Amino acid sequence: MLMKFKNIEIFKTQDGSIGLYNKELDEIYHSKFGAKKEAFEKFIEPCFVLDLNKPLMILDICYGIGYNTKTALEYFPFISRIDCLETNEELVFNSYKFEFSKKINSIIEKNIKKPEFIYFYIGDARNTIKKLQNKYDIIFHDGFAPHKQSVLWSEDFIKKIVSLMKKDSIYCTYNHSKPVLKALLDTGICIGKTVKDNRIAGTIASYNPDLIVNKLDEFELEQLNTKSAITYKDRNLNLSNEEIIKNRNLEVLNSSLLSLSKLKRIKQLQD
Ligand SMILES: C[S@@+](CC[C@H](N)C(=O)[O-])C[C@H]1O[C@@H](n2cnc3c(N)ncnc32)[C@H](O)[C@@H]1O
Repeated sequence: MLMKFKNIEIFKTQDGSIGLYNKELDEIYHSKFGAKKEAFEKFIEPCFVLDLNKPLMILDICYGIGYNTKTALEYFPFISRIDCLETNEELVFNSYKFEFSKKINSIIEKNIKKPEFIYFYIGDARNTIKKLQNKYDIIFHDGFAPHKQSVLWSEDFIKKIVSLMKKDSIYCTYNHSKPVLKALLDTGICIGKTVKDNRIAGTIASYNPDLIVNKLDEFELEQLNTKSAITYKDRNLNLSNEEIIKNRNLEVLNSSLLSLSKLKRIKQLQD
């Protein structure tokens, strides 16, 4: 079904599923290589290390039109609750009209009308997250790219996310940028990469190191001590994207840390 959304264009991705493009931000919501494929490979498949035969509590940060939640409903047999965080209510309230089977879409529709086990929180995820009391088995983090929407990638927001995890929880995101890896690492959690077809597909994190199949190697960890890994900061979770990016640029400029290119040159000389 074709829909219209304010400031959003709809396009077909390479696996035939629908993708969205935000004209204002000049940013895509879904990979052009396949929206459904992306949800499976970057968010669902990494969770197969968990025991999926127990009731799962899921947090879906940046629900959009719900690819990650809907794919979770397809693949995880026992879900006790999904909390979905999203600013754009137009997307949420129409999300049951997109892709997926009638069965999955009708679960979404029912829960939008009267939440049974899927709860939708409309608003800035930075505010919603302060109110969440649950601990989750799985957390999906699917914000727009940090250079466009840094509010969702600050070390402070990431700390909040990690505080909602248990020992055996899994956090996953498509994002593998150094500031995000560094922010995760600084919380004390173990981090790794998700790999698909020999390429890095995203990031996985857990307090349980046994759940991280592809850990970062020594050189990848070393890179997190360079300027390029300086984190986004938003101590009170209330700054604008522009303020966060400006502050980080200043911090990078004034930093005495090694630059990534210098570290790479040193490494080449050593090899
Ligand atoms: C990359 S898209 C996510 C796509 C989504 N997972 C899906 O399956 O359609 C990023 C989403 O973050 C939402 N968003 C942007 N800023 C937000 C904020 N501060 N809090 C919550 N959601 C936000 C956008 O409206 C957009 O839907």
